[in-house]
Amino acid sequence: MPVRLIIDTDTAGDDVNSLLIALLHPEIQLEAVTISVGNVGFEQQIENALYTIEMAGRSGQVPVYPGCATPLLSEWVAADYVHGRDGMGDSFFPKARQRPEPKHAVDALIERIHAAPGELTILAQAPLTNIAAAVIRDPSIAAKVKTLYIMGGTYFAPGNITPAAEYNFYVDPEAARIVFRAGFDIRLVDWGLCVRDTVLDDADLDDIRRLDTELARFYLQVNRVVRRFNETVGIRGVTHPDSIVAAMIADPAIARGWQPCQVDIETRGELTRGASVITPAEYAGVEKRVEKPNAQVCLGADKARFKALLMDILSRR
Ligand code: BDR
Ligand code: CA
Repeated sequence: MPVRLIIDTDTAGDDVNSLLIALLHPEIQLEAVTISVGNVGFEQQIENALYTIEMAGRSGQVPVYPGCATPLLSEWVAADYVHGRDGMGDSFFPKARQRPEPKHAVDALIERIHAAPGELTILAQAPLTNIAAAVIRDPSIAAKVKTLYIMGGTYFAPGNITPAAEYNFYVDPEAARIVFRAGFDIRLVDWGLCVRDTVLDDADLDDIRRLDTELARFYLQVNRVVRRFNETVGIRGVTHPDSIVAAMIADPAIARGWQPCQVDIETRGELTRGASVITPAEYAGVEKRVEKPNAQVCLGADKARFKALLMDILSRR
């Protein structure tokens, strides 16, 4: 049985790769896409999701619900300098045929979770604003989601937006704190893992280029700005923070172990706002703070297996 999945996304750069995996991998049944504030302008992110669905040959088959266009309390911080002004490598693709749904993402999430209790997995690959708003409105959804995969935070690694914080948690730290305290069954993939285990370098990108498919060309175009940006921060290649999680959902063997932890988010620090504070459960005896782990934190990823999965997806069209 394929995993029944909803992706909450701020569609730009690697969010697109993640959507392609979810749209085309036989082990995933993507049932809806919800759009959160994040990487680039909100309307552009909606268009990017719709265009990606069209590129995957799935136009009209997966609904896209616009959600919260601003963080709960923070000022929005864009990441267009990472992904291009349109979030798609400065490609400015035409509008897709499919249009967004009139229903708000928060309503769609709550309705769909209640309609299939215990059956839906969610991949949250954006600031956690929509998920927090949904669980504030209806706290009972936390126990009804099968697993909530989250891309965000850092685990013993530097951040990517400040030295202490990763982008998704930095943009909406209050939302992240609410979600980690809500009682979901959470699996967390942090930015440090992405830098260690998911960078595809120029030789890998040449392998993708040689596929010579429409999707391989699309991937290279969407990721060309992030490839250049990464060079300026000492990363030689394209990072895959969101698509590594989609790949783990499709093929759990890509994840190299999970550690039960207590995860909380700093919301007030002068230098550390948005930082993830992660305590492994094994420290519980020493650190009385850890009474009950609230997340499993991923310890690593099998890069070769991930690359093979991604190339398989990109060779499909
Ligand atoms: C996260 O921030 C965004 O720019 C990416 O889409 C990813 O979800 C990485 O920190
Ligand atoms: Ca994202």
